Amino acid sequence: MVEISVEVKKGSQEKAKRLQDKHPKEKRVPIFIMGKKYEVPDSLTIQKALEYAGYQLIRGCGCRGGICGACGTVYRFPNSYRIEVGLACQTVVEPDMYITQIPFFPGNKATYNIEKLEPTGSSIAAMYPEIFKCVGCGTCTRSCPMDIDVMDYISKAIRGDIAGAAELSFDCVMCGLCTARCPAEEVQYNVAILTRRLYGRHIAPRARHIQKAIQYIEEGQFEKTIKQLMKMNRKELEKVYNEREIEPDMSEEFWTPKNKINLVIE
Ligand code: SF4
Ligand code: SF4
Ligand code: FES
Repeated sequence: MVEISVEVKKGSQEKAKRLQDKHPKEKRVPIFIMGKKYEVPDSLTIQKALEYAGYQLIRGCGCRGGICGACGTVYRFPNSYRIEVGLACQTVVEPDMYITQIPFFPGNKATYNIEKLEPTGSSIAAMYPEIFKCVGCGTCTRSCPMDIDVMDYISKAIRGDIAGAAELSFDCVMCGLCTARCPAEEVQYNVAILTRRLYGRHIAPRARHIQKAIQYIEEGQFEKTIKQLMKMNRKELEKVYNEREIEPDMSEEFWTPKNKINLVIE
């Protein structure tokens, strides 16, 4: 949820003023935020335009780089019936956009113990039986700001192709825009994350180096170093950190540091 303080607070007013001073001569375009008109520089993203207008984004704004999926937004242009969607941090404003953010969608979220679930279509069906209501309209795919073929990963999940659904949905940022528009009330992103969890827990080969690292930890191999570090003051820690051996930019594929005392080697 974006808590947009409509009664603009002192801090957000100052931020808005700073932004306004930063863009004194840029071309302005009119946009409508929750029905109210503002003039904003045409180079801003929707997210920056909200702040430029004086709104304080407490939620619904995370990475600002198209990764966290917190800033799902719907908008429409005059004389068009189409609802457009996008991430506020990635979408540049256009004249006469009517904008509302959907930073959280209250979609169904199943509770499960991934250890006890089998990596099959039956597990998906048990957790999300509504998946079979999909009518194949493709609205989810058209709504996805990450250009994922959402309908395709849903159909793979229906067929029990866990690996396929996990791979196809890998770039999902869980913005919820597909769910907001689905006529069958699917929660595609939660189905997707279930397939990736099932894949990771039951299908993907175990990473040998991680198993080895766990074994080293359980055997206490790093205890001595940890105790030494814990005795150091900040200055000593900074020295150790700054003098650590760093992998060169153009290193060999299997580069290792000279000091291998804390290295996990398969
Ligand atoms: S929007 Fe919903 S019903 Fe339409 S294809 Fe996607 S999952 Fe199926
Ligand atoms: S699949 Fe749905 S939740 Fe994931 S990024 Fe695309 S629209 Fe957002
Ligand atoms: S703020 Fe993270 S995707 Fe937009």
